[in-house]
Amino acid sequence: MGRKLVVGNWKMNLLQKEAKELSCAIVDLIGKNYDNCEVVLVPPYTALREVGNCISGSNIDLGAQNVFGKSRGAYTGEISAPMLVDAGCKWVIIGHSERRHLLGETDEQIRKKISLSISYGLKVILCVGETETQREEAVSGSKDISTKKRDIFSPIKTQIENALGAFDEQGLLDIVIAYEPVWAIGTGKNATSLEIAEIHQCIRELLVEMFPDSGNNVRILYGGSVKTGNISDIMSVDEVDGVLVGGASLSVDSFFKIVKLIGS
Ligand code: 13P
Repeated sequence: MGRKLVVGNWKMNLLQKEAKELSCAIVDLIGKNYDNCEVVLVPPYTALREVGNCISGSNIDLGAQNVFGKSRGAYTGEISAPMLVDAGCKWVIIGHSERRHLLGETDEQIRKKISLSISYGLKVILCVGETETQREEAVSGSKDISTKKRDIFSPIKTQIENALGAFDEQGLLDIVIAYEPVWAIGTGKNATSLEIAEIHQCIRELLVEMFPDSGNNVRILYGGSVKTGNISDIMSVDEVDGVLVGGASLSVDSFFKIVKLIGS
């Protein structure tokens, strides 16, 4: 298993000047020699260059929030894996719930994006997670606990199988899974340690079933309302290998505290 990983997903926030200020402040605080955990900043495309310049020479890596499933051509408004590599990205987030649910991204598109990204040497953060309705339906009715657990995991299982089913063990080396329950994203309502532990264990078991040799080595992150106030609880869960942070990554104070707590 690699080091713990902290990813700051800035989503559609920050102009270039603001992105420069935030990333340079993060570099100042974390320092060039900080390597207790791996840190990735994921700004909007327009700020990739500014952030890339600020983190140059530090241990922080650059990531992008999305990619298209073709390497070039007439796809107005899209961005390709080689373009991201060219812009200095080492990582790309794929299948974020905001893209799945607000922009209609399908499992098939996600599979293509992963495949192409890996072929260009990008490391992939594959996001999966159930909606509030899916969880409510799964726990409703008079079922036993193990059936409820199986039903809660069912949509996540489908997302992982559809995204990764076609890959071999080698392909898995460049993939990190982020469990982000949709109902916890941007709501201030994080999943409890028990809920996180249950899903992370199910993800681990599924990965080992699908990839007996490398399934145990894939890092599994948690995301959804991660804050300074809940990071210790979240990281106390054995199967959590790091976090994907949205809102709290936009403030240097909170992001730094999260990084410090994870790396300590
Ligand atoms: P918040 O931390 O703002 O809930 O966002 C989580 C997320 O979607 C990270 O990708």
